[in-house]
Amino acid sequence: MRMVDLIAKKRDGEVLSQEEIQFIVSGYTDHSIPDYQMSALLMAIFNQDMTDEEITHLTLAMANSGEVIDLSSINGIKVDKHSTGGVGDTTTIVLAPLVASVGVPVAKMSGRGLGHTGGTLDKLEAIPGFQIEIPNQQFIDLVNDTQVAVTGQSGDLAPADKRMYALRDVTATVDSIPLIASSVMSKKIASGADAIVLDVTLGDGAFMKNQADAERLAHTMVRIGNLAGRKTMAVISDMSQPLGEAIGNTLEVVEAINTLKGEGPEDLQEMVYVLGSQMVVLAEKADTLEEARKMLEDALHSGKALAKFKEMIRNQGGDDSVVDHPEKMPQAKYVTQVLAPKSGYVRDIHAESIGVAAMLLGAGRKTKEDVIDYSVGLVLNKKVGMSVEAGEPLVTVYSNREDVEDVNQMILDSIEIGEAIEEPMLVRGIITE
Ligand code: URA
Ligand code: CA
Repeated sequence: MRMVDLIAKKRDGEVLSQEEIQFIVSGYTDHSIPDYQMSALLMAIFNQDMTDEEITHLTLAMANSGEVIDLSSINGIKVDKHSTGGVGDTTTIVLAPLVASVGVPVAKMSGRGLGHTGGTLDKLEAIPGFQIEIPNQQFIDLVNDTQVAVTGQSGDLAPADKRMYALRDVTATVDSIPLIASSVMSKKIASGADAIVLDVTLGDGAFMKNQADAERLAHTMVRIGNLAGRKTMAVISDMSQPLGEAIGNTLEVVEAINTLKGEGPEDLQEMVYVLGSQMVVLAEKADTLEEARKMLEDALHSGKALAKFKEMIRNQGGDDSVVDHPEKMPQAKYVTQVLAPKSGYVRDIHAESIGVAAMLLGAGRKTKEDVIDYSVGLVLNKKVGMSVEAGEPLVTVYSNREDVEDVNQMILDSIEIGEAIEEPMLVRGIITE
């Protein structure tokens, strides 16, 4: 088999066989296929698309390109949750202890942030002492003993995806449904969960910009998960504005704590209940979504979920007193506000540009080598649909540099004020097959 013939085949819109896809993924993983040929193939896939069968073969080949984690020594049905990416998305930090507190084992492998989206690991590291590098056996023991642990992704998990993703990033081939579906699902399948809840984000802060694309991506991933023997479902959620109010690491941990106290932003709390209920049902801890939601609401209001969060922080070497004293986390030197230039209603908050504005303050990484400043970020004082008077605060800026004119301008450019508009619907679809 020659790679050049397979590139030509895909370029001409033909279907690749399982054997051919396996040849490509193995060859790229062992470096016998060079980046330039893989780049050409990725562009051909981007332009010609793939059938469901091709996507499934690609996903399984990528999942098997490295370590496949065995979580069978953890009792119970392990349910993982994965978001296709968003801005200010604090759901994992709330969901992990909340769902664990009702008895669902949460063995969470998370990633770091790059560009305008933040990563759960970076956020948790804003908590003094919190260790995300824990040995495999300790990770498994923690989940068995306490129901919850969060760790970094093993370096050898789906290595084919790691290299393909880096290549896609610089060859304009990220926004492709077959490539996103196989990238996400290869990692989920390799990381050993029995069941998977997917959060497919939709809007200008997400990869999927319209409903039809989001539905196709969700259906594709659900089908692959089920074919691989993992019960999988997807929620399509709104990311036309950032989720919740905080964007930045310390700020999002504080927001997670508030949410676990029942005092969080409404949209974040609702998203947590929607995703959490699905996780509880897939883990067979409840028969219906209504019953699951009631369990989660009780755990949140009784303080059980917050106690579980403290326990999770302690177990991983962190200082759990931050829950009652958030000021112990890194704090920004300057707190200023961006004021509304006119009266009206907030019609749009461009999620991606808000994410970039937070990154410019130091809350995220432009390149993999950048060091994160945990203390900085943004808090939205207004969300889409709310009325605002000229001169009222729109966004609060937490910074360690005195001059934030560039950031302020970017924020003003990202927010549209005008005629009244309805709040966007949070849940845009539930896909179960
Ligand atoms: N997240 C991933 O892991 N892969 C993609 O391709 C897109 C989002
Ligand atoms: Ca928007």
